[in-house]
Amino acid sequence: MAKRWLLIFLAIITLPAALQAGMNMGGMVFEVKIQTKNVGTVTFDHTKHGADCGGCHPKIFIKKNNSNHTTMKAMEKGRSCGACHNGKKAFTVAENCTTCHAGDIVYRNPDAGDITFPHAAHIEMFGCEECHPDLFKPRSGANRATMAEMENGASCGACHDGSTAFNVAEDCDSCHAM
Ligand code: HEC
Ligand code: HEC
Ligand code: HEC
Ligand code: HEC
Ligand code: HEC
Ligand code: HEC
Repeated sequence: MAKRWLLIFLAIITLPAALQAGMNMGGMVFEVKIQTKNVGTVTFDHTKHGADCGGCHPKIFIKKNNSNHTTMKAMEKGRSCGACHNGKKAFTVAENCTTCHAGDIVYRNPDAGDITFPHAAHIEMFGCEECHPDLFKPRSGANRATMAEMENGASCGACHDGSTAFNVAEDCDSCHAM
């Protein structure tokens, strides 16, 4: 009896390593990048989803990267990730946007102080399409701008103009860690 539990315990602790090594896992890639049309990539991590391949393949997902495209609306009705991410089996796709999509974005700036763009706070106020892909390509580091350009309405300055949100020309330490 004790031996059986030990084996189960060993199986559980070695599973993530086995998944990463792709041992006997049908050539599985442990992190799959799903490309969306306008809002960048979503990383699906196999190691966080157990070894019950048949629970997902082929019923919910064909085993081929970017072959299962759908929309958030369809997911909210139970398709794709929404088969489980429905607030019952796992956290819901109707909220928690930044758990699957981008989280905080950090701009490194040793001179003026690093800037953290908080996605979650902005997603509470705006749809993704307010910013992507026209104002910002959804890729970290792909949209450089100077403060002078921002004061003329580029990048953060599209809203941080002292009327929609606090002003890029004044509230330096609301964005920069100084
Ligand atoms: C919780 C659901 C889920 C489980 C469980 C799961 N997968 Fe996947 N798998 C996915 C998703 C999502 C994709 C990405 C599909 C896409 O990009 O359209 C994927 C993709 C794949 C791919 C294609 C990768 C590529 O780069 O083309 C392989 C191979 C694969 N899975 C094998 C496995 C194996 C083997 C297991 C069991 C150890 C497994 N999967 C368990 C959801 C799952
Ligand atoms: C469980 C993970 C997960 C959560 C939570 C999630 N998404 Fe998604 N989202 C995805 C995946 C995966 C795709 C890619 C779909 C595809 O192309 O098949 C996607 C695609 C999208 C798209 C492009 C497709 C479309 O429907 O227009 C938008 C926009 C989007 N998500 C916004 C959101 C918002 C807003 C939230 C929160 C209310 C959210 N997502 C929560 C996983 C998630
Ligand atoms: C077969 C059910 C199932 C499907 C399908 C599924 N998930 Fe999950 N997922 C889970 C469970 C269960 C958890 C862990 C419980 C929780 O966090 O609520 C989880 C956790 C996660 C987490 C958090 C991992 C962490 O760091 O703790 C992310 C991110 C995630 N899933 C993304 C996705 C995306 C993206 C898809 C679709 C491409 C997807 N999942 C499809 C069941 C599923
Ligand atoms: C208020 C504007 C704004 C909104 C709203 C917004 N984003 Fe972003 N997003 C940004 C900025 C700024 C960046 C960083 C771009 C850069 O570094 O050049 C970014 C980057 C990203 C990236 C790239 C992350 C990386 O590490 O490369 C993804 C993916 C993304 N956003 C998805 C989304 C999704 C999905 C939504 C809606 C749920 C959303 N964004 C809503 C402003 C926004
Ligand atoms: C709304 C947020 C925000 C505010 C407010 C803000 N900044 Fe910035 N700042 C940024 C971001 C984001 C970058 C990085 C842009 C990039 O790399 O593309 C940046 C970059 C910079 C840079 C390097 C680029 C350049 O223009 O030389 C300096 C210096 C700077 N900020 C100084 C300031 C000062 C001084 C203030 C106050 C008068 C200020 N910032 C207010 C967000 C902000
Ligand atoms: C689509 C409009 C929009 C864009 C673009 C935008 N913001 Fe904001 N942001 C807002 C609004 C509205 C608020 C909340 C009102 C306020 O605090 O003045 C806010 C609040 C913030 C806050 C405070 C968040 C909190 O939790 O209190 C920070 C920090 C911030 N923005 C940084 C940035 C940076 C950095 C950029 C550019 C990379 C940016 N924002 C781009 C509209 C925007």
